Amino acid sequence: MKSNQSSFSSNITAWYKSNGREALPWRKNITPYRVWISEIMLQQTQVKTVIPFFNIFIKKYPNLKSLSNASEENILALWTGLGFYRRAKNIYKTKELIKNDFNNIFPKKFDGIISLPGIGKSTAGAIMSIAYKKPYPILDANVKRVISRYKMVENNSSASSIKELWNISKDLTPKNNIFEYTQGIMDLGATVCNIHSAKCDQCPLNLSCKSAFDIADPRKRIDKKIKPKKRIHFILAYSQDHVLLFKKNEKTFWESLWTPLEIQAKKDSCLLRKRILKNETINKKHKLSHIDLDIRVDISEYEDTFNLKTNLEYRWINKADIDMFGMPKPIKSIIQTL
Ligand code: ADE
Repeated sequence: MKSNQSSFSSNITAWYKSNGREALPWRKNITPYRVWISEIMLQQTQVKTVIPFFNIFIKKYPNLKSLSNASEENILALWTGLGFYRRAKNIYKTKELIKNDFNNIFPKKFDGIISLPGIGKSTAGAIMSIAYKKPYPILDANVKRVISRYKMVENNSSASSIKELWNISKDLTPKNNIFEYTQGIMDLGATVCNIHSAKCDQCPLNLSCKSAFDIADPRKRIDKKIKPKKRIHFILAYSQDHVLLFKKNEKTFWESLWTPLEIQAKKDSCLLRKRILKNETINKKHKLSHIDLDIRVDISEYEDTFNLKTNLEYRWINKADIDMFGMPKPIKSIIQTL
């Protein structure tokens, strides 16, 4: 009889061969670079959202060489709408580090990969196993769910639970067929071992899974977390084809993105005290992972562009060029209506 470890992994790899999402764009023309970009995008974002962003990114920067001269701004510009913008900044830092310390070749060893910004143990494991076919374990949210149900152990964010799940993941990770196994367990978690309605009848692990057909629907137990709300107020100045935007340099959400002038105190609006041709206000709600934003944008039309006496970094940007700048999605959509 097969050991528990090998039947777990062989069931997953066999299942992957006929049920896996092999058509996902990062699963074709595999290179360490493409795997890295996809794994960073997939860190906090669902597969179906990532697909178009990945395709556009790869079209513009198909490999490390093409990315090597990109500015942080170029990379942020491709991130508009994907959220968690620190990931884009880490991609910039990583490609600079690879250029300076790794001869512009994506590192091949786990220690080199995990030393890069934005890459933790699970992402490094995913790159090792998918790009280099080396048997390294991973532990993303899907894998945690599959293995915690399989072994019927706690899956919470406590240090002891995470440690135990890493140990289990390591024990279950096979030496062979690691490429199919890693992607198979991710796919199984995403498509069969769902959070809300696990399809145990379709699961290749249902004969040995300790929770098979016995998974309570957590929707009944989880109280929806109420997120704090935050109001933000902007003045969006524009003149003919140009909009006045400021680079946000606070270490909060939207750091390094371009937004209209943010009014935090009364004096801030004095910066734009000029003769206005037209004024209107738009209110928009926008959800971030940790807060719900209530955005107010006062739009002011000016006869001409003008200079400001300020230490803030600002530019009059031609509307036709806004795709070249990193900016929050709700702001970009308002500018596109002008
Ligand atoms: N989530 C994280 N990495 C993934 C991958 N390579 N394929 C599908 N979902 C993922």
